[in-house]
Amino acid sequence: MKVISTESSQVLAARVAGSLGVPLVEVKYSRFPDGEHYLKAGALDDDMLIIGSVPDNDAFVQLLLLIDACDTSRIRLVIPYMAYARQDKRFNPGEPVSARAVSRALGAGVSEVFTVNIHEPAVLGSFGVPVQNLSLAPDIGAYISGKGLDNPLILAPDEGAACFAEGVAAAGGFDCDHLEKTRLSGESVRMAPKRLDAASRTVVIVDDIISTGGTIATASQMLYDQGATEVYTACVHGVFTGGAYARLIAAGIREISSSDTLERGCSRYTAAERIAAAVTR
Ligand code: R5P
Repeated sequence: MKVISTESSQVLAARVAGSLGVPLVEVKYSRFPDGEHYLKAGALDDDMLIIGSVPDNDAFVQLLLLIDACDTSRIRLVIPYMAYARQDKRFNPGEPVSARAVSRALGAGVSEVFTVNIHEPAVLGSFGVPVQNLSLAPDIGAYISGKGLDNPLILAPDEGAACFAEGVAAAGGFDCDHLEKTRLSGESVRMAPKRLDAASRTVVIVDDIISTGGTIATASQMLYDQGATEVYTACVHGVFTGGAYARLIAAGIREISSSDTLERGCSRYTAAERIAAAVTR
């Protein structure tokens, strides 16, 4: 087996290759004068493991080209972060189910797919090949345990992330709950833990994705209003679009951490070991 990656997943791919003890294929990436992507891979193998997050449209095209370049019957594709996953249904007439469109395109030409905390597991069937969705919840739980926080309360920002938060909390034996929104008036909404009290507690808000940071920033402000002592946040996929990191700091978040599914300065835990274990199982 050899490992190969898109430009945006080089560090994670090197970690996976290192963990597996297999070679990492060098790839030259460039563009044609009109902006089209071009790539040329080094010596390939009959058994290829491609690692490519899709943070944007360029990465998506690079991944399609890489799949084509591998040109062998055993191509396993790891998509650590997949953009478009949140448009997982047709919310309004005339819209695409973008998650399905992207999954279909990436599933064509590979024999197996691995995702990491995909936003909506229901889309996995659209790849058209066997898929395993790996979870970093235990790794985030272990990271939080290592910080030595005082009896932290793990909170999901909504019910949709409650199961993920439970997985994080279970790893450290922490209390867990999710935030519930109550509409107070036309303009104002209150977010508070459904069962537990945040007063005098250290809170860690955990989510699969932080994009604009709006969800976590609002939750943090409300938790401080309810007497929380300190608020931290930890996510799998740190998209951090449009000043999100600064927004979170301004909302009083003590520490922001994410995984290396998207390589960021605040990547504190890696998906590499889970990926390596899954592909050797
Ligand atoms: C949505 O359901 C996701 O789990 C995240 O909560 C959401 O994508 C976060 O977005 P933002 O950071 O833009 O508030």
